Amino acid sequence: MDSRKNIIITGGNGCLGTELTKMLKSKTSELGSLPAIYDQFDIVSLASYELDITNLEHVSKILEEKQPYAVVNCAAYTDVDGCEDEKDKAFKVNALGPRNLAIVCERKRAKLIHISTDYVFDGEEKEKRIECDVINPKSVYGASKALGEEYVRSFCSRWYILRTSWLYGYHGKNFVNTIIKAAKENGVLNVVDDQIGSPTNAVDLAYAICKLLITQEYGLYHCSGNGECSWYEFACEILNVFGIDAKINPCKSSEYKRKAKRPKFSNLDNFMLRLTVGDCFRDWKQALSAFCNNGYKS
Ligand SMILES: NC(=O)c1ccc[n+]([C@@H]2O[C@H](COP(=O)([O-])OP(=O)(O)OC[C@H]3O[C@@H](n4cnc5c(N)ncnc54)[C@H](OP(=O)(O)O)[C@@H]3O)[C@@H](O)[C@H]2O)c1
Repeated sequence: MDSRKNIIITGGNGCLGTELTKMLKSKTSELGSLPAIYDQFDIVSLASYELDITNLEHVSKILEEKQPYAVVNCAAYTDVDGCEDEKDKAFKVNALGPRNLAIVCERKRAKLIHISTDYVFDGEEKEKRIECDVINPKSVYGASKALGEEYVRSFCSRWYILRTSWLYGYHGKNFVNTIIKAAKENGVLNVVDDQIGSPTNAVDLAYAICKLLITQEYGLYHCSGNGECSWYEFACEILNVFGIDAKINPCKSSEYKRKAKRPKFSNLDNFMLRLTVGDCFRDWKQALSAFCNNGYKS
């Protein structure tokens, strides 16, 4: 075991960063307790104003101070349409940010867990994507995240890249709270039914991170909720689970123009996870129901 005992979380105030910080600090989750080895770590969760990952000097200074055993990069510029307008910012945060962390993690001999996305694929194939499938991003967000992956692989040796999809959690803006709010305010919603993917509860992803982090099972992982649905089906299930009375009309992506192109099929197969530490992701409906029952205030 390495003598360094800090686990640093970047983007600590975001949806995943908040969930992961909570889990690592409490050493338990609705999916089970964390292994006893976690007693040996201090958790340092840093918001963007405490650590700006785009600044190599700053990354270097903070990691020098904290002597991390591991860094989990939950920081990203996640506004998919915003990335089309702000290409420089997208590549700075989503590509140069992880590059900076990778360079310094290598110097510190620390592990780096980096979070990526289903948007690195073009979404044209109906079959679930596995880790060896060729990427072909169709948006600035997807391209910036793809370059981030490449930099992590190139600049450090102890890396794990976890691609997830349709992430929601207790903290921050996401599809679940957007639908709940819009349903309550408007009573009628139009939601696209021609984009298919796998909703992922941030608790499940945080748990997968905790399972991998203490292993030497380095590499690329798909990490999404099990099962699949359209955004329309996801929205209907949200209203069902939260008991909200509103009407949802299915519509097509062509009727709902957005700046960034979205993948039609976004299903990730947690293949490498199954072959290593095991697939801890719940079926998406079960995970959504737990999200509702475990205290999400709609
Ligand atoms: N959300 C999804 O549906 C989804 C799907 C697939 C993959 N992912 C990936 O999952 C990861 C976590 O996403 P999330 O939903 O938790 O994102 P999020 O809620 O948007 O959180 C991202 C965090 O990154 C921080 N950040 C932005 N720029 C930064 C910088 N230069 N330095 C340090 N921190 C910075 C933000 O802080 P400020 O708010 O202060 O800017 C925010 O707290 C990301 O890598 C994302 O690409 C997300």
